[in-house]
Amino acid sequence: MDFLTQPIDPTSERDLAAGGLRLTLVDTSDAAAFDGWIRADFRGFHSGRPKDDVLEEARGYLAGRRTTGVYDDAIPSGEPVGTVNSWVAPLTVPGGGRVDAWAISSVTVAPTHRRRRIATALLGGELRTAHALGVPLAILTVSESVIYGRWGFGPATFATAWSIDTKRVRWAGAETTGRLSFTDAEEYRETGGRVLDRVMAARAGEIALEPYLAHRLIGPLKGDPDAEKYRLVRYDSPEGEPEGFVSYTVKDDEADDFTRHTVEVNYLAAATDEALTALWRYLFELDLVARVKIWTRGVDEPLPALVSDIRGATVTDVEDHLWVRILDVPAALQARSYERDGSLVLDVADDLGIAAGRYRITVADGRAEVVTTGDAADVSLPVSALGSVYLGHDTARGLAVAGRIHGDVAALDRIFRTAVPPRLSTWF
Ligand SMILES: CC(C)(COP(=O)(O)OP(=O)(O)OC[C@H]1O[C@@H](n2cnc3c(N)ncnc32)[C@H](O)[C@@H]1OP(=O)(O)O)[C@@H](O)C(=O)NCCC(=O)NCCS
Repeated sequence: MDFLTQPIDPTSERDLAAGGLRLTLVDTSDAAAFDGWIRADFRGFHSGRPKDDVLEEARGYLAGRRTTGVYDDAIPSGEPVGTVNSWVAPLTVPGGGRVDAWAISSVTVAPTHRRRRIATALLGGELRTAHALGVPLAILTVSESVIYGRWGFGPATFATAWSIDTKRVRWAGAETTGRLSFTDAEEYRETGGRVLDRVMAARAGEIALEPYLAHRLIGPLKGDPDAEKYRLVRYDSPEGEPEGFVSYTVKDDEADDFTRHTVEVNYLAAATDEALTALWRYLFELDLVARVKIWTRGVDEPLPALVSDIRGATVTDVEDHLWVRILDVPAALQARSYERDGSLVLDVADDLGIAAGRYRITVADGRAEVVTTGDAADVSLPVSALGSVYLGHDTARGLAVAGRIHGDVAALDRIFRTAVPPRLSTWF
């Protein structure tokens, strides 16, 4: 499968051409063309104009993605008015297996060209291309949760943000015996990459990270205004095995009180419970710090158990995070394992027609066999709802209450839900 050279989707190409717009793959080895695309991407997310070193770094990191632009040849800048990129990312699924997922990023449309169905053409094109290449599902993280349901994506993992009052909480976790030490991003990059590989393989919902996604968890990318403030601490087991790290910045929010700095955690990686415990304790016990803030943790982050005063560690946000779009129902459902056996007929609706159909899923010894069937449906649901329950999160009953899943929702929930909730701990 060559996702880089697969031709542009003809339906989207035609739809955009009807409005005077040109859909094309961008040659990422052509620096001028790629820089124009990167500038448009930055502008789409209201980031500053990237300087030369930022462009150079981005070209290096992003060249391996399928990169698509929409051009309005009537405008003088030559920069695209729509952008998207995609690649095939291994997604960890319940049971610890991995499935190829079509990861979509950098979806932007120039404000000068909004609401002319450019995003519709870009997303439709991505999904049809992925399906043509036999990739069983697509994934993305979103800027706004109102955008992607219309294309069959459903929220499949949720992420928590926390604020910890470190002057209030006392350590209530276990003792750890490993070693903490400062390191720097350049030196630690390869080792940190291996730690991240372990972390991402261990939890449903995480994806194997490209160097771009891994490196920015370890240290700052070019152009980061806080680059000088980054600190990186590694945790190694008593045997010397690298098992975790935390990268963070320290801010002096309360300028009149030097004892009350705020730590903002860029990323905390823990491949073992010992690493998780040691790194949390390190953060809680930093001197001259009054608050630790962290984002994109799981919904089951064990912080309440690690502190003496539960209310000193507050969840400040719970948000939808990874969105899943099933493209091939049998392949996707057979790729994960299940904690309870059973059999169920699912009637799946799909406005784009890609995954629609009636399927019987039969789970025996945790593995599923999925076939199309003419039997009566036990459960009817849109493909977005199937995406939402796919990784095991507890969403089926809520969707049934909302009238989006009909039929035997208890049976659906019993088969799909997992004891450990899925998690994605980064953005892409
Ligand atoms: C989100 C974005 C890509 C949409 O592009 P667009 O070309 O204007 O979208 P389309 O014209 O194809 O819109 C298709 C439908 O989605 C709706 N829609 C699109 N963006 C929406 C948004 N941000 N909020 C609510 N509805 C939205 C449109 O109203 C339209 O609805 P309709 O079918 O009922 O008429 C564009 O607004 C953008 O670039 N935003 C900033 C960057 C961003 O947030 N990107 C998403 C990254 S995950």
